[in-house]
Amino acid sequence: MTSKQTIFQDLPTDLDRYRLPKHVAVIMDGNGRWAKSRGLPRIMGHRRGVDTLKDLLRCCKDWGIPALTAYAFSTENWGRPLEEVDFLMTLFERVLRRELDEMIQENVQIKFVGDLSSLPSSLRTEIERSMALTQDNQGTRFTVATNYGGRQEIVQACQKIAHQVQQGLVQPDEIDEALFARHLYTAHVSDPDLLIRTSGEMRISNFLLWQLAYAEFYITQTLWPDFDRAEFHRALCAYQKRDRRFGKV
Ligand code: FPP
Repeated sequence: MTSKQTIFQDLPTDLDRYRLPKHVAVIMDGNGRWAKSRGLPRIMGHRRGVDTLKDLLRCCKDWGIPALTAYAFSTENWGRPLEEVDFLMTLFERVLRRELDEMIQENVQIKFVGDLSSLPSSLRTEIERSMALTQDNQGTRFTVATNYGGRQEIVQACQKIAHQVQQGLVQPDEIDEALFARHLYTAHVSDPDLLIRTSGEMRISNFLLWQLAYAEFYITQTLWPDFDRAEFHRALCAYQKRDRRFGKV
């Protein structure tokens, strides 16, 4: 742990603990650029990115934010060079194996969302193990979007509902927003209040298309591996200054 992380153990005094987001989502962008700017291979950026994510998860626990969702691998990321995709799959597996005991100890409930069927089978085994061993934990809800695409998620929800209609279990008129949301991968958690995207890109990149309907967006130029507690603090300060109207006046 760095000294900076230790100093910010408690909630900073300028944040209102009653107006914190209940769910933060992150698009962890800029790993490759972070590595390139240091003359390192891209994979070193991903490796450092894991440390950043780990500290953010702990920070959510320390500061009383109940849910964190991270975009680890999109359905489009298969288009990256084979070595990078292989590295990421191995990294996810290794991190899960290495961090599982600590997540159990820290009462984290981890869940993977996305089309997990096309992930390598050894990774799927670790994913299933980590989800099973943390499913009753009552601490931070940590959701990892892996081989995730927002459009694909919506299509699979439509398919599931269509099957239920076909079997006569659901009437077409009964389909409303609440029923639809229950068929998304994220049925276990409330919609994000705050979306953070690093590295300055102003895109949603097929992430949580339904769930982000009323989220506040915070975009920072900082590259993901440099996104530390001080940065998170800034994001939360900005969030608390927003006037959330949910479409009302
Ligand atoms: C985007 O940066 C980052 C990724 C596609 C991978 C993020 C994954 C991690 C940080 C590991 C998470 C691990 C677990 C187990 C949840 P980029 O490569 O697009 O960066 P660039 O835009 O600078 O090229």
